[in-house]
Amino acid sequence: MNATPARVEHQLTDKGYVPVYTTAVIEQPWSSYSATDHEVWATLFARQRQLLVGRASDEFLRTQAAMNMTPDRIPKFDDLNRLLRQATGWELIAVQGLLPELDFFDHLANRRFPVTWWIRTPEQLDYLSEPDLFHDLFGHVPLLMNPVFADYMAAYGRGGVKAHGIGGDALTYLTRLYWYTVEFGLIRQDDGLRIYGSGIVSSKGESIHCLESTAPNRIGFDLERIMRTRYRIDTFQKTYFVIDSYEQLMEATTPDFTPIYERLAQQESIPAGTVLATDAVFNRGTGEGWLSDGDV
Ligand code: PHE
Ligand code: FE
Repeated sequence: MNATPARVEHQLTDKGYVPVYTTAVIEQPWSSYSATDHEVWATLFARQRQLLVGRASDEFLRTQAAMNMTPDRIPKFDDLNRLLRQATGWELIAVQGLLPELDFFDHLANRRFPVTWWIRTPEQLDYLSEPDLFHDLFGHVPLLMNPVFADYMAAYGRGGVKAHGIGGDALTYLTRLYWYTVEFGLIRQDDGLRIYGSGIVSSKGESIHCLESTAPNRIGFDLERIMRTRYRIDTFQKTYFVIDSYEQLMEATTPDFTPIYERLAQQESIPAGTVLATDAVFNRGTGEGWLSDGDV
């Protein structure tokens, strides 16, 4: 029998918490999940599926249902892969934790989505500081079933390899795009704003905050505006960017970014909570007050 792969998490050092990177691609050690692991999955899955009705985008809810994930046990990547390969040519690969940037981009460019094999502990139900199986699988994987979003993710991977080669601040700008779309994006449906970002759908608190709190700004998608905007990793977002469709996202990001990176290098970056006169504002946030979990 093979040893269980490592659970690679950040380390506490004299510089504070530092992320730890790992490149290994492994087999999902499905038989080594404990009863507690399956229970954590069940709890989070049931809670978020319920919370996201009327909050997540119709397409997210539809694609997630199409993957046949159920609360009773952690899904097997092999089962999901049969559906994914057929729908959009993507496949999941199991990894031990965060990947170095270039490895991550290369996987995406080749339609391989890295999924952390381990799941958070019961003490970490509401927050942990790095991606785990629940965030990756529940949050990221469903929209890979959508052909347009699937193409966007692969294009992002190719763009990442390119930005890495360009150097300077190109990767900073590109990472902001990922943050404000793939991780924390909102979409406008006929019946109102909805969530599609994986960082939101895998978080109970932020699923409520992003739509119902008066604190954050909600601003129409604008590629260069996003690339100039800093973000917070330790609190709910101060600003969310709203797309009209996945096609809009794909079209806006198709042009060569090289001249855009050069232009951005001449400009100041924008603090996370700022609203500009040129922004298409859905809601100007009050910048204060958090909805707590008790406000559901
Ligand atoms: N068009 C981008 C470039 O030239 C690549 C890209 C596509 C990046 C989609 C992000 C998302 O770099
Ligand atoms: Fe993520």
